[in-house]
Amino acid sequence: MKNQPIRVIHVVGARPNYMKVAPLMREMGRNPDKWQQTLVHTGQHYDYRMSQVFFEDLGMPQPDVYLGVGSGSHAEQYSRVLQSFEPVLKDRQPAWLIVVGDVNSTLACALAAAQMHIRVAHVEAGLRSFDRTMPEEINRVLTDHVSELLFTTEPSGNRNLVNEGIPEEKVRFVGNTMIDTLSTLLPRAEGKRTLADLLHSVTNGNNDDDEAGQHKPYTLVTLHRPQNVDDPSALSEILGALERVAEDVPVLFPVHPRTRKRIEENHLAVRPERVRLLEPLGYMDFLTLMRHAGLVITDSGGIQEETTYLGVPCLTVRPNTERPITIELGTNRLVQRESSAIVHAAHEALSTGSLKQLTPPPLWDGKAAERIVMHLGQASAHLSDPC
Ligand code: UD1
Repeated sequence: MKNQPIRVIHVVGARPNYMKVAPLMREMGRNPDKWQQTLVHTGQHYDYRMSQVFFEDLGMPQPDVYLGVGSGSHAEQYSRVLQSFEPVLKDRQPAWLIVVGDVNSTLACALAAAQMHIRVAHVEAGLRSFDRTMPEEINRVLTDHVSELLFTTEPSGNRNLVNEGIPEEKVRFVGNTMIDTLSTLLPRAEGKRTLADLLHSVTNGNNDDDEAGQHKPYTLVTLHRPQNVDDPSALSEILGALERVAEDVPVLFPVHPRTRKRIEENHLAVRPERVRLLEPLGYMDFLTLMRHAGLVITDSGGIQEETTYLGVPCLTVRPNTERPITIELGTNRLVQRESSAIVHAAHEALSTGSLKQLTPPPLWDGKAAERIVMHLGQASAHLSDPC
């Protein structure tokens, strides 16, 4: 008799999730007799530019189930996901729930599954900032502790999990599925210079390359962490720094909705001839800009990793990072949010120039999804055992 396919549910909720899930779905999709996949979108992010554009850019199937939880406090988001996801689990009875990253949707879905004795596999497990004031840190720790299989992206993840008492046999070092997506789509971004050309021409008054055929340097910025944008004086300090950085190189800043709201609410402004505020960008457009940037200033988690892979200098406006490998390799540097610290570090980084010859971190080779699916397949051989 033919074996039944293994039922899995993947969850996406917020912008950084899509690029981590896409390669897993593609890998399992190669073997539809073995894997039966359901994609659930919690609706934590819902704007076209924060959600739908990624499905298009990444070639992902549309979600089978949309929970529509929307924005709210942490408690509101967790509780709406818990209540709306439980019936989906009851209905679909998956062998595995696969969650990625550290957003509120990740933890809420993992918790719902664990309470129903459904096995949870956590992709991007073990990262720790050791800063419990970050909502993501709480999501990381709790998700890891209700997971049966924990897939890590860098060696620090394995160390952290073992230090927290998670049995080593549950942990697999597999690499980074976000880098699977980046390495697959990079050739397309290399050929696609339209957006970079356009923005270059807007900020410089022409769109010529320099004599070496390279774009003139520019700084690309993203900011959305509550610590940086919810406090008006912190946000104003950072915007001031960006204006000063822009005295030397153009600054391009696709603005997250949370940040846009705070800029407007607090009547903050930047001189548009200096700092170019843009709408949030899709994956391909952002990758194009990041690839050609002289410097990236960010508080994102994933962008620290993407710039490391690309060899683009990155300043992270945070007191800590859960991704220490990016610091060890030298592409990423933590910077305090004081204006003078950001400006000084930006000057230094821009004068250091390209780091593009760096060897990427171990197993960031485009094959993480392949490894994860192999491990899930092996672990599924024992599925009759209760978790
Ligand atoms: C969330 C994640 C964060 C991740 C980030 C990427 C948590 C705790 N945080 O933060 O880890 O790095 O996503 O973007 O899960 N909004 C819109 N449209 C949208 C989504 C949000 O306008 O499509 C606005 C709303 O005003 C909302 C605010 O942005 O209140 C914040 O959204 P939320 O999902 O709570 O957190 P993020 O800051 O996006």
